Amino acid sequence: MAVDFRGHPMFPRGFNSPTRFEADVYDCEVWGEIPTDIEGTFYRTQCDFAYRPPQNEWMTGFNGDGHISAFHFNNGSVDYIGKYVKTERLLAERKARKRLFGVYRNHFTDDPSVADLDRSAANTHMYWHGGKLLVLKEDSPAWHVDPWTLETYGAWDFYGRYKATSMSAHPKIDPVTGEMIAYGYQAKGDLTDDVAVYTVARDGHITKEVWFKAPYVGIMHDIAITQNYIVVPLICRTTSLERLQSGEPMWEWNENVPTMVAVLPRDGEAKDVRWFRGPPRNTLHFLNATDRGDRITMELPCSDGERTPSEIKRWSFNMNSKNEYFEEETVNTANGVLARMDDRYLSLDYQYAYVGNRDTSLPYDNDKGAGMGGRVTNQYLRVDVKTGKTTGAYFVGPTHSLQESCFVPRKGGTAEGDGYLMGVANNYESMTSDLVIVDAQRMEEGAIATVKLPFRLRSGTHTNWFNRAELPAPPAV
Ligand SMILES: [Fe+2]
Repeated sequence: MAVDFRGHPMFPRGFNSPTRFEADVYDCEVWGEIPTDIEGTFYRTQCDFAYRPPQNEWMTGFNGDGHISAFHFNNGSVDYIGKYVKTERLLAERKARKRLFGVYRNHFTDDPSVADLDRSAANTHMYWHGGKLLVLKEDSPAWHVDPWTLETYGAWDFYGRYKATSMSAHPKIDPVTGEMIAYGYQAKGDLTDDVAVYTVARDGHITKEVWFKAPYVGIMHDIAITQNYIVVPLICRTTSLERLQSGEPMWEWNENVPTMVAVLPRDGEAKDVRWFRGPPRNTLHFLNATDRGDRITMELPCSDGERTPSEIKRWSFNMNSKNEYFEEETVNTANGVLARMDDRYLSLDYQYAYVGNRDTSLPYDNDKGAGMGGRVTNQYLRVDVKTGKTTGAYFVGPTHSLQESCFVPRKGGTAEGDGYLMGVANNYESMTSDLVIVDAQRMEEGAIATVKLPFRLRSGTHTNWFNRAELPAPPAV
């Protein structure tokens, strides 16, 4: 049967209907001037459903096939590549010409023919580390792709040393040591309460491995690191064997369990894990953490419940106290769930967060804006996490919305925040996608350059930037 997405609740016709093609645009059209001190590659991931998923797939949206983009910047020009990750899952479904895998993280809903295949959709995030570009999704092993062509090489097990059955999409790279702190949860298979934390040296070899147990099986989507600690929150979206057997996607919001946070010394073992607790919180992504003596602080976008606005909060952990609770305060009321920083300052004392924000007081063209009614992220804000003040704002305009940004350091600069914000904007007027480049120190001046793609990219998951100096030499043109 041919592919037909009509009538599926996830795919109203419009910007986020599946696109399903691969693209190679050499020397993209650019409006404005790309500064020549931008040199490297902007990577992003999106879910792009190759085949029609089950009807109840709408409950997550994050189970589409991984489709990755690279914008290679060099000397004021940019080349675009967009490709599917050729996972076992995608290849099997292409061969069958239909969807074989069921709903989000529920193997009970899979076709029996794929029982022995890797379930990864490789659709969440990309990291360059140890000489490899990895595409990650938290329920499965890492996938390895070429940093220039995005061709798929295969699943990656870190020279045979990564034993957990999954690797989260949010490892952290220590800018001082070059180490990557990677982890997996449900690390011995679905519904297991095992957590595995790996230290991966700059050269890509695992040097340390710690396994410990979680107090309940909940979502552990992201972590934070300081110079001395690894902070692993356990957030109250829970699951059960009964839920999976009933055919539902894995998670449901559950405010009857506390937020739990494991704090593991980077040089410690499982016996050194200390659990803190707090009220139920709706959060997935953490901005950064730092430690000063016995006090660890972590900033994060967070809301009190499933349908309340997000804020930037700070959680504090006192390692010198017997108090089992963490403290919480509000830093800034920016309403967005995605916040980024200058990653050269990850784990260190830092000042700036770049937050996607929805300001409903800003104008929105509801006709040309595809009837979104302003219910979209329309700003990037710069928040000073030391003072809590908003110190910069970029408004994308009344016919666009913004996907996740990332910070791009100015070549040759070292000061925090000296660089650019880059992110894909959905242009609803032309139904195409724009990559906007904003000076992070002069955000009100608007985009200094816009890369105009002649097609649309579905709303993405995450973005990352890696400097040319970190990547291997490009292939000859
Ligand atoms: Fe994420």
